[in-house]
Amino acid sequence: MKRLSLALLGMAVSLCLWGETPLYLDSSASIEQRIDDALSRMTIREKVNMLHAQSKFSSAGVPRLGIPEFWTTDGPHGIRPEVLWDEWDQAGWTNDSCTAFPALTCLAATWNPEVSYLYGKSIGEEARYRKKDILLGPGVNIYRTPLNGRNFEYMGEDPYLASQMVVPYIQGVQSNGVAACVKHFALNNHEVNRHTTNVIVDERALHEIYLPAFKAAVEKGNAWSIMGSYNLYRDQHVCHNEYLLNDMLKRDWAFDGVVVSDWGGTHNTEQAITNGLDMEFGSWTNGLSAGASNAYDNYYLADPYIERLATGAADENVLNDKVRRVLRLAFRTNMNTNRPFGSLCSPEHSAAAREIGREGIVLLKNDGKVLPIRSEKGMKVAVIGENAIKMMTVGGGSSSLKARYEISPLDGLRKAFGDKVELVYARGYVGDPSGEYNGVTSGQDLSDSRSAAELLAEAIDVSRNADVVIFVGGLNKSAGQDCEDSDRASLELPYGQNELIEALAAVNPRLVFVNVSGNAVAMPWIKKVPAVVQAWYLGSEAGNAIADVITGQYNPSGKLPMTFPASLSQVGAHCFGNYLGEKRENENIYDCTYNEGIFVGYRWIDKHKEKPLFPFGHGLSYTTFAYGKPSASAKRMDAAGTLTVSVPVTNTGDVDGSETVQLYITDVKSSLPRPEKELKGFRKVKLAPGETQNVEFTILPEHLAFYSPEAGSMVTEQGKFRVKIGASSGDIRGEVEFEFVDNAIAVR
Ligand code: GLC
Repeated sequence: MKRLSLALLGMAVSLCLWGETPLYLDSSASIEQRIDDALSRMTIREKVNMLHAQSKFSSAGVPRLGIPEFWTTDGPHGIRPEVLWDEWDQAGWTNDSCTAFPALTCLAATWNPEVSYLYGKSIGEEARYRKKDILLGPGVNIYRTPLNGRNFEYMGEDPYLASQMVVPYIQGVQSNGVAACVKHFALNNHEVNRHTTNVIVDERALHEIYLPAFKAAVEKGNAWSIMGSYNLYRDQHVCHNEYLLNDMLKRDWAFDGVVVSDWGGTHNTEQAITNGLDMEFGSWTNGLSAGASNAYDNYYLADPYIERLATGAADENVLNDKVRRVLRLAFRTNMNTNRPFGSLCSPEHSAAAREIGREGIVLLKNDGKVLPIRSEKGMKVAVIGENAIKMMTVGGGSSSLKARYEISPLDGLRKAFGDKVELVYARGYVGDPSGEYNGVTSGQDLSDSRSAAELLAEAIDVSRNADVVIFVGGLNKSAGQDCEDSDRASLELPYGQNELIEALAAVNPRLVFVNVSGNAVAMPWIKKVPAVVQAWYLGSEAGNAIADVITGQYNPSGKLPMTFPASLSQVGAHCFGNYLGEKRENENIYDCTYNEGIFVGYRWIDKHKEKPLFPFGHGLSYTTFAYGKPSASAKRMDAAGTLTVSVPVTNTGDVDGSETVQLYITDVKSSLPRPEKELKGFRKVKLAPGETQNVEFTILPEHLAFYSPEAGSMVTEQGKFRVKIGASSGDIRGEVEFEFVDNAIAVR
């Protein structure tokens, strides 16, 4: 083998000497031919060097062959500022600010795959311009508990919605010749003990709830890389997990890309070699603290790997498979001479951020049509709350950004109302005056020495005689709220906001609560507040997006991608003891059993006939929509067939509006327990006043399937099914029944 490599090397060198372009550099050759040629020229050390970090966010190329190094970057909402070679601290560049796009919960709340493509394309352009080859995002971990500190980075509780929304994002990013790195694969559904939690979950929940979005990312999105998660599954860390990486991802889903570890997620050389890891990053760290600067040769996939190859303890074929994947990534990204050049902080990206933000905002309640607030001369508007002024692009963990700018809700509202409206502001409470993450500071001085009583008194004073009060509160990106590496302690709003809201409602009934958060929150005062808006973390254009909705410039069309429970007793993860699991006797491992199984989110709500605060898929508009009776193209369907369900939807109000029509499937009688209904289709339609559209859905056998542990695959059983058409999971407007006549195993 060695002689052959040397001979090929000699030939390649002689070809070069004669000016022939070596095959691996010939962009007219196929990627697979180029991989073969490059591999044949590489030494063992060069191969192994490609499999692990050389700095905090980069891995080595092959300098001798002109194969570039790889540069990765966080995160899912924007391109992270440069850090020092081997530290988390800022490199102090002055040209690495970015456009901060809305958090992915907001993207999911648009229920609009076209917007998701726009998002991916835009953020991919910023990554490309910053010369990054791998974008460490998007995240699609399922929203199992509203306490998870990282839910704001993900796409909600439903696998079908997350699957439909992640694919266009990936396609958009990769259209720039930048790899998406879909994370965190898999079962990383809370942040406490994230490195030491061993998830125990039944096969049905694994295949029906936690894997589908990743499967879609690979099979439909053609993701070029996947990030392993910190936790364990079947007692193996998922960054080197035989079942999830080798069997599921690479064998069953035919993933041809690269598995990247999470930073500090690698723990064992043998497992890293044999269980599917391709690129090791961040070792010797817990993913967030400093690592020893000369540790790279000591990485699990570095010298220890070389030693095992030298003694024959490691199979060179396994090495070559890893290197093929990394080379494939190179030819798709930094060796792809046809990729575009990207752009940074462009007006187009600002427009995209604003569009995504306002389309993702959800109007949860609007009694008495308090909203929209049209500005009238002499009107007095009181804006209350720390989240009206606090920057939210700094903090939250690795998705933290150095945004070129961030328009606060207060600034956005001031600009939108203009000078004919008297707009007064009072903070109302002091939550978290800090604003720094990894050396990036918000630049805001939010210190305030006043007492809670003084702050409350001022808020009440400015609200008492206002025509309308807009309270902008919620959570923030601090530890213990919406932040990586920590979970919330409860569903409650922090900092005494509930008391403040009650006090404001007592002096002014025309109160609007704007919740800036990545998560559901409890609203014990909900009956006293006529209007509620879920505003998410909206990035650079936050204030403009919020103002667009509040003033009616934009008619809200967002729908919740997760249930807002009335209390944790409505969340399956919290109904069987500690949602974090139990620590082992003599081992720093927490066994966490997902006892609720497939009954996550609205699936649990339906099973237990709970009434949530706001149901999954809920979202109002400034207009109204009427749904006609749904009809099916046939009464029966077989394994080879499809069925079309159509439903007329009419805008019965007086302004343009968009409605997301949702299709849920009920298996009337199944051999195994199934949820009362499951989302299997949605369509967002824009309607002018009085306009009717016939919204059509195509039902496939796969939409009827559940995972059969016995068959080891998805199965569609014979029998009756119901299609339920709804404006939300809690607002079904009509249904139609049909029969599936075959007993088919739908494997996809
Ligand atoms: C973090 C996160 C991951 C991020 C990586 C690099 O710990 O878990 O999402 O991309 O490390 O910052």
